[in-house]
Amino acid sequence: EKGGYDHFMLKEIYEQPKAIKDTISPRVTKDGKIKLDDVSLTKEDIDKFNKVYVVACGTAYHAGLISKTLIERYLNIPVVVDIASEFRYGEPLIDENTLMIVVSQSGETADTLAALKLAKEKGARVLAVTNVVGSSISREADDVLYTWAGPEIAVASTKAHTTQLVLLALVSLYMAEKKGTISKEKYDEIIKEIVELPRKAQSILDNTDLIEEITEKIYKNEHVFYIGRGMDYDVSREASLKLKEISYAHSEALPAGELKHGTLALIEDGTPVIATITQSKTYEKALSNIKEVKARGAYVIAVTQEEHKEIEKYVDSVLYIPDVIDELTSVLAVIPLQLLAYYVAVNRGCSIDKPRNLAKSVTVE
Ligand code: F6R
Repeated sequence: EKGGYDHFMLKEIYEQPKAIKDTISPRVTKDGKIKLDDVSLTKEDIDKFNKVYVVACGTAYHAGLISKTLIERYLNIPVVVDIASEFRYGEPLIDENTLMIVVSQSGETADTLAALKLAKEKGARVLAVTNVVGSSISREADDVLYTWAGPEIAVASTKAHTTQLVLLALVSLYMAEKKGTISKEKYDEIIKEIVELPRKAQSILDNTDLIEEITEKIYKNEHVFYIGRGMDYDVSREASLKLKEISYAHSEALPAGELKHGTLALIEDGTPVIATITQSKTYEKALSNIKEVKARGAYVIAVTQEEHKEIEKYVDSVLYIPDVIDELTSVLAVIPLQLLAYYVAVNRGCSIDKPRNLAKSVTVE
C-alpha cells in the first residue's frame, strides 16, 4: 500500500504533483478563469469584508501565514493569521464583516472546529479549506473548498500543505477578481504560473541526489536553524516543524533580519543554517544575512530559484527550485525541505510515519 516507497511520508511527498494538479484542474477553466462551484460568495459578500482571519493549527497554520501576503496584496484588506488554540481563548475582533478562513487537512481538529464555531457565533462568514469530505469542519462552515490531495496517512503533513497553498492562492485571486482589486494582467499571469506548478514540482522530485548528499552532512546536528524573510520565513517555519517532528532534532525558524537581535549568538562552526531566499523584494537583504551567518562558521544551505546561480559563491550548497513568480515560490520551496527532513529522519533511524507522542488528527484539546 506504500506503492513501493519505504514510508507513507515519502509516497505522499511524491504524490504532490498529482495532488496539486487534482486541486487546480477542476477550478481553472480552459480559458484561464477561476471557477469555484462549491463557493457561494457573491461580489456583494466580498465587497463587504473589511478583515480576514485565517485560523488553523500546525502545518495548516503555516499555509495560512503564506496566504496572508496574497490576500492582503490582492484584496487590499488586513489579514490576521492565528493559531486556533490561541484564537479561541483570545478576544478576536470579528463581526459580520469578517471573512474567517479555517484550514484543516483532517477537518476534525478540535481547536480549529471550536474557532470556527466561535467565529460563526460572532457573525463571521466562514470558508473552510479541508481535505476530508464530510468532516466536522466541512459540515459547520458556510462554504467549503476541498484540497484534492487524497488520503494523507503519514502524521507529518506534506501534500495537504502544498494543496492548501494552491487553493488559498486560487481563492484570493477569485475574490480579488470579483472585487476588482487585481489587474487582468496580474490575474492572467498568476493563473498561468499556477497551472505550471505540477510540472515544476515534479522536476524537483526527479532529482534528489543533492538533497541526500547534504543530509549526510547535517543529520548528526542537534540544532538546525532556518532563516528567511516574508514568505520565505513562513516556508522556513513549515520546514523547521517538519524536521523536528520526524527527526527529533531541535530546530528553529527565524526571520532573517532578526538574527542579530539574539540568535546569531548560537551560530558556531558547522551549525546548519537553511536559508530560503526566493523573494526579489528582499533578496539582497537576505543575502546579507547569509553572509553574516557564514562569517560565523555556519554550514549554509540555500533554497532559491535557478535564476539565482550567483548565490553559489556565498553558501555551501544550493537546492534549486524552478523559476517561478514570487507569489508562488513557497509551493515549490517547501518540497526539497520536506525531503531534507525526511532523509535526516531516515539517517537518524526515526519512526517516520508515526513520530513519538504525535497523532494524525488532534480531536482532543
Ligand atoms: C505537521 C502536522 C500538524 C497538522 C495539525 C493540523 O506535519 O501535520 O501540525 O498540520 O495538527 O491538522 P489539521 O490540518 O488536520 O487540522
